[in-house]
Amino acid sequence: MSLSIVILAAGQGVRMRSESPKVLHRIAGMSLLEHVFNAACDLPHREIYVIYGYGGRRVPEELERLPVKWVEQAEQLGTGHAVAQVLPSISSRDTVLVLYGDVPLITASTLKRLLKVANNGELGLLTVELENPTGYGRIVRNDNGTVVRIVEETDASDAERVIREVNTGIMAVSAKRLKHWVETLDNDNVQGEYYLTDVPEAAVRDGVRLNTVLPDSVYEVMGVNDRAQLAELERYYQLVQAQHLMNEGVTLADPVRFDLRGDLEVGQDVFIDVNVVIEGTVQLGNRVSIGPNTYIRDAVIADGVTILSNCVIEDAVIGKDSRVGPFSRIRPESRLDENVHVGNFVEIKKSNVGRGTKINHLSYIGDSDVGKDVNIGAGTITCNYDGAYKHRTVIGDNVFIGSDTQLVAPVKVGNGATIGAGSTITSDAPSNMLTLSRAEQKTAPGWKRPEKKK
Ligand code: UD1
Ligand code: CA
Repeated sequence: MSLSIVILAAGQGVRMRSESPKVLHRIAGMSLLEHVFNAACDLPHREIYVIYGYGGRRVPEELERLPVKWVEQAEQLGTGHAVAQVLPSISSRDTVLVLYGDVPLITASTLKRLLKVANNGELGLLTVELENPTGYGRIVRNDNGTVVRIVEETDASDAERVIREVNTGIMAVSAKRLKHWVETLDNDNVQGEYYLTDVPEAAVRDGVRLNTVLPDSVYEVMGVNDRAQLAELERYYQLVQAQHLMNEGVTLADPVRFDLRGDLEVGQDVFIDVNVVIEGTVQLGNRVSIGPNTYIRDAVIADGVTILSNCVIEDAVIGKDSRVGPFSRIRPESRLDENVHVGNFVEIKKSNVGRGTKINHLSYIGDSDVGKDVNIGAGTITCNYDGAYKHRTVIGDNVFIGSDTQLVAPVKVGNGATIGAGSTITSDAPSNMLTLSRAEQKTAPGWKRPEKKK
């Protein structure tokens, strides 16, 4: 016997007021559906089916890479109808676990407990205790604690309405029984939909034992129906991630002003100031310090690096003990070696910068190979683009580039060369010599500033 997991993802999500299907909205940079998929993936011996519908093939196209079976629900006639679309392709010997694409924070740990109680043809149902159960189906138990009924809000008596334990709709059940119960569903309700939440009631009616499990946290069963709920789950999820990082020994100046949208690997004694956003896959070495208001995506930042405030670093490697910022932009395919200093208003793109090199102010270094212990003066520009092609600038070791220099690529500056300030360098500059291109300075004797007539 094996496990068939069905994730319902065909609905539009009207209250999102969005052009895209609800399950493609994101928490921590990842679609709601992928969050559910990841939890499902942690369960053994399973096949995952995703029911899609609203938006045509948009969901399966955008998430094509997921190893799931896509099943279309052409018309969205309710959650019960959605499950019915896939049941014919599931073996009657399987256990079916139903999950919702818009309930993103469900965990494998809770689901494993749920699957345990769904043995011997009994129905496992995830329930939750809510402060305010308004709108949910209440779980009615007898004196022994056995579930005897699930009653919808509208049908509940006053005594039943005070029950705080409610049906989440997440259930695990034998496929054989589910097939039978789904056939008996009707759409005789306010929305005119086939409700999957009617299945546990059918189980109780048929005398099938219903075993309940509570989630580790109520956030696990909270659905996203509108943007406010999306934001609420995002904040919860970020706080959990922040707590994990703090447990690993990271100092977060303020855990509620930190966002991680991806995977972050950290060394020891990392410090992260407020409003730092980290995306993709990022590694921070030991003693890395990140200043406020910084964005980092897909980067490897080595031990002892200091990133000062307001930097943007994407697809880059920053070597040991380097210092970047404030206000630096390190663009894709840039590699800074050890002990490099990159300062205010410096942009680096597709360049290698050697050990000990300093680029401290107002410069653009693109498509360049810069050697070791180079000093690049303020306002240096590598002119890498001729309007059609990009060209490389190669700067040797121990070079000194005077301020306000333009290096018109392709061009090479030899080891130990000095470039005089204000130069426009259009051909290679030889090693160990001073090269400069600069109009000669003149003074005009006797010249007077014009003055306004009285
Ligand atoms: C439903 C459940 C509720 C569960 C909640 C989770 C019922 C009656 N209620 O409520 O127990 O906690 O979902 O969000 O089942 N969907 C389809 N096809 C459809 C209708 C919905 O695939 O025809 C999908 C949606 O894409 C969504 C999920 O099912 O991912 C829930 O749909 P929604 O309409 O939001 O249901 P709720 O009324 O919120
Ligand atoms: Ca809903």
